[in-house]
Amino acid sequence: MNYHIPVLAENCVQTLDPHPGGVYVDATLGGGGHAKALLERCPQITLYGFDADSEALAEARNKLSDAAGVEYVHANFSRLRTELALRKVKAIDGILFDLGVSSHQLDTPARGFSFDREAPLDMRMDARIAQTAADVLNEATERELAGIFRSYGEEPSAGRIAREIVRQRGEKPIQTTKDLARIIDKVYPAGTRDALKAKVRVFQSLRIRVNRELEVLEPALRDAINILRPGGRIVVISYHSLEDRIVKTTFLEAAAGCVCPPRIPLCVCGRKKQLRLLQRKPVSPGPEETAANPRSRSARLRAAEKLMGES
Ligand SMILES: C[S@@+](CC[C@H](N)C(=O)[O-])C[C@H]1O[C@@H](n2cnc3c(N)ncnc32)[C@H](O)[C@@H]1O
Repeated sequence: MNYHIPVLAENCVQTLDPHPGGVYVDATLGGGGHAKALLERCPQITLYGFDADSEALAEARNKLSDAAGVEYVHANFSRLRTELALRKVKAIDGILFDLGVSSHQLDTPARGFSFDREAPLDMRMDARIAQTAADVLNEATERELAGIFRSYGEEPSAGRIAREIVRQRGEKPIQTTKDLARIIDKVYPAGTRDALKAKVRVFQSLRIRVNRELEVLEPALRDAINILRPGGRIVVISYHSLEDRIVKTTFLEAAAGCVCPPRIPLCVCGRKKQLRLLQRKPVSPGPEETAANPRSRSARLRAAEKLMGES
């Protein structure tokens, strides 16, 4: 079975347009699908492949075993600047972020990402993270839990689900995916479409919280923009509106430059335009791609180019 089918791969390769001697970063290497496509287009590049998940890196190493210029970095992309500095990389020609989890992670029951497979509620991309999803459910206050479901899942019944979790864990700790799914079935009638959608939202929000997915995104995008060479490109694929909003805002701010109010005659903020946006609207996969890979349906790709004179 496929580890993960890379989404909008041709678009990523065309946009990043790798050239011999260029330095590129895949911030979310996963199974190495996008990286392979980049290396096939131009084998004479240096590629730094980051992933928080050591299993993903092992898979990518296997897939890219023929490629000479790949360095594997087992780190969260929040460490992009530090890890590249450690490797004496001062500027890069392109970077890709393909956010979220891979199909392999979702489909491996033991990782605890899916509510339809009985497994311990883990959900950590990186096994070095201290708190699992079960820990969060058993340790957070009712208010914190409701906040997680509301902010990261836009769950309308966040408060009722949080209350039910706190009641349930008073009797017995919540340990498995099915424990959580059963709790949601108490708030929404089991077997209904509403219950299914609520499970998607609650599991997604918990995953985002465990891996701090939204907190790390904006600073990492800023670091990536800063380290891009003039003419270098950044491509980001997101899979839900919360991520896409952060990408859109960060890009727009970097493309706007000065943020001083118009009534101030001289710029005091000192912000310069760093980016040129490559599209006004995000790119989505076409019908052929979504038919072949239904998980690509929610993908939104945004891309931008670093302007001259900024580094
Ligand atoms: C959608 S998959 C990438 C798939 C990859 N583009 C491919 O073609 O196989 C996302 C990957 O990024 C990793 N990941 C997600 N957030 C991360 C972060 N903040 N830092 C490092 N890796 C991250 C996940 O562990 C997962 O392997």
